Amino acid sequence: MVKIAPSILSSDFSRLDREVVEAERGGADWIHVDVMDGRFVPNITIGPRIVESIRPHTTLPLDVHLMIEEPDRYIPAFAKSGADWISVHQEACPHLHRTVHLIKEQGARAGVVLNPATPASVLEPILPDLDLVLLMTVNPGFGGQEFIPGVLDKIREVRERADNRNPDLEIEVDGGINPETAAQTASWGATVLVAGSAVFGKEDRREAIQAIRKGAEA
Ligand code: DX5
Ligand code: ZN
Repeated sequence: MVKIAPSILSSDFSRLDREVVEAERGGADWIHVDVMDGRFVPNITIGPRIVESIRPHTTLPLDVHLMIEEPDRYIPAFAKSGADWISVHQEACPHLHRTVHLIKEQGARAGVVLNPATPASVLEPILPDLDLVLLMTVNPGFGGQEFIPGVLDKIREVRERADNRNPDLEIEVDGGINPETAAQTASWGATVLVAGSAVFGKEDRREAIQAIRKGAEA
């Protein structure tokens, strides 16, 4: 069964506690937290203090997506703040193997994110070390962008590469996910679907989450 991870990027930041509670009550599996530094991506969002503030309001895993330069400097703080999963961009990590193991040493599960233009082959040497691969289906930085269909092939490629070497690998997709793109990405092998505007842009979060799940399971 696929997991749905609502992204709080599209939620009301003045009532984050209630937004997270509503997502959990609405049937979310994980909570996706987008961290942006204004350097790796052209937008600034939140830091470990906010993750720490959300932590007591949900029992769901917190899935922290670091869109930042030099993530090694901040991984310990995010792990301490209550992140269960921490993902870093391959494009921001010259020593990716070291960064992945730093995440694990800090007690979190480790993910690597690939931008739409980055090929799956860059993961080959470290595939067995990963808990998760996050494939961006938009260019990172903003919610509400349109899904890039060219990434679908990459989902299948990662699935096939992982089937032999890391069958428990989670494959997450992020950007432009709605009931239709949920169906496509899940059928190509995605196991975790991030959705920002398709959940928090809707009045009824339960209905929105159910619609995405229905799409994915169709
Ligand atoms: C984009 C973020 C996404 C964003 C997705 O840079 O990584 O997690 O919240 O938003 P939607 O689902 O609206 O495309
Ligand atoms: Zn994200």
